[in-house]
Amino acid sequence: MQRENKKIGWLEGIIEAVHDGILVIDRDGIVQLINEEYTNITGVKREQIIGRTLVEVRPGAQLPTVLKTGKVMEGVFRKEKDMEYVVDMAPIYENSEIIGAVSICKSIPELYELSKELRKSKQRVNQLEKAVGLIHRARYTFSDIIGGNTHLRKLIYQAKKISTSNLSILITGESGTGKELFAQAIHQESTRNAQPFVPVNCAAIPSALLESELFGYEEGAFTNSKKEGKIGLFELANKGTLFLDEIGDMPLDLQAKLLRVLQEGTFRKIGGLKEQQIDVRIIAATNKDLLNMVQRERFREDLYYRINTVHLPIPSLRQRKDDIPEIVASIIRNQKHIREFQIEEDVINILMEYDWPGNIRELKNTINYAVNMTDNDSITYEHLPETIKVLFLQNKTKLNPPQSLEALIKETERKAIMDTLKETGVSVKGKKEAANKLGISLASLYNKLAKLQINL
Ligand SMILES: Nc1ncnc2c1ncn2[C@@H]1O[C@H](COP(=O)(O)OP(=O)(O)OP(=O)(O)O)[C@@H](O)[C@H]1O
Ligand SMILES: [Mg+2]
Repeated sequence: MQRENKKIGWLEGIIEAVHDGILVIDRDGIVQLINEEYTNITGVKREQIIGRTLVEVRPGAQLPTVLKTGKVMEGVFRKEKDMEYVVDMAPIYENSEIIGAVSICKSIPELYELSKELRKSKQRVNQLEKAVGLIHRARYTFSDIIGGNTHLRKLIYQAKKISTSNLSILITGESGTGKELFAQAIHQESTRNAQPFVPVNCAAIPSALLESELFGYEEGAFTNSKKEGKIGLFELANKGTLFLDEIGDMPLDLQAKLLRVLQEGTFRKIGGLKEQQIDVRIIAATNKDLLNMVQRERFREDLYYRINTVHLPIPSLRQRKDDIPEIVASIIRNQKHIREFQIEEDVINILMEYDWPGNIRELKNTINYAVNMTDNDSITYEHLPETIKVLFLQNKTKLNPPQSLEALIKETERKAIMDTLKETGVSVKGKKEAANKLGISLASLYNKLAKLQINL
């Protein structure tokens, strides 16, 4: 009994320290404890209620129901005289038996203050969302895609048409062909253009981190995780576009999770219990052969067909060399120089002959380099980067290579005879000496010269 009293004493001390109004009844519905805040909120004094049956003093009380049903009741609105408050009620268990119930009250003015704070926080969240939206803004539109090549124009037409739909898009093409440029332009043309465009480079993020980058995590989801949790890129891109760059580098287990999100339209944070609705348009890009990866079981077939609803294969620059002069002109225009640049015909010819393994990115870098190398307003062969000059020269010497063994023999004969005659001279004496050196008769030398159509 002494211990019971001591316990009650402790409890009284504790509930006094609580900021909300508290009332506790025992299993018979008799009020055992209240704190001062309860009196402040409801106007009921200790001496009026302690030791008495709750329904006797407060006929409208619902706490006895909780005692009976064992069910928690939350946010119950109560109004008594001019007092308004909200009550949460819960049963108290001991050894899985209900031994009482507790009622926790919050006055409306206090709730009002809290909701004011909540509104302020919401406003802040809104501002932050806008700021995030500004960071994740697409810069390019379709008008930034230069080139009149028919194949490219068809692709742009198709891309514009599907921009406004919510279909997933797969953009393929070599490095530097403009995959991201297309992705941004599609987003800008879509109804989502006021919402974020969030790019993720699946190859640049270590696979162990990619999942938490994409989906985020709840607080304390794992050791070393940030205490307050993390918002994932999916959530950041909500209502906008998520650009999954280099999707061919996404680990298989994550591909399965991505597929679930695309199919269900919901996702769950790491360590989270709640499924969250998400409305994100997916544009994926890769320079890998995904179909081949599917065959080698490196890429999930179901995901492949899910993202491949629309496929935009961007041609390489070498497949649309006709665009080179226009792109070069546009790159020069976009340079921040006031000077007007001329580009020599020869240079354009070299640029047209080169293969551009790095596509438009390489062409851009080359022109920017050349512009910076010039002292006057004209770009000449001299201003091109060494790599291009060397490759160009190598290609030149490779021109007209012998086609057959016969041609090769002819070419070698011609070279051997010409090299020897250069040494000996072309007089009759010289020819005799050359025939000697080559180990053939003078008549045979004359024959060969005639065959090779060499007139000396
Ligand atoms: N048709 C085009 N007209 C003008 N500029 C272009 C065009 N295509 C690409 N570019 C420019 O070339 C550069 C490379 O483009 P982008 O980054 O979109 O290529 P990518 O295909 O995503 O390359 P990677 O596979 O290496 O990521 C960018 O500076 C882009 O603005
Ligand atoms: Mg890219």
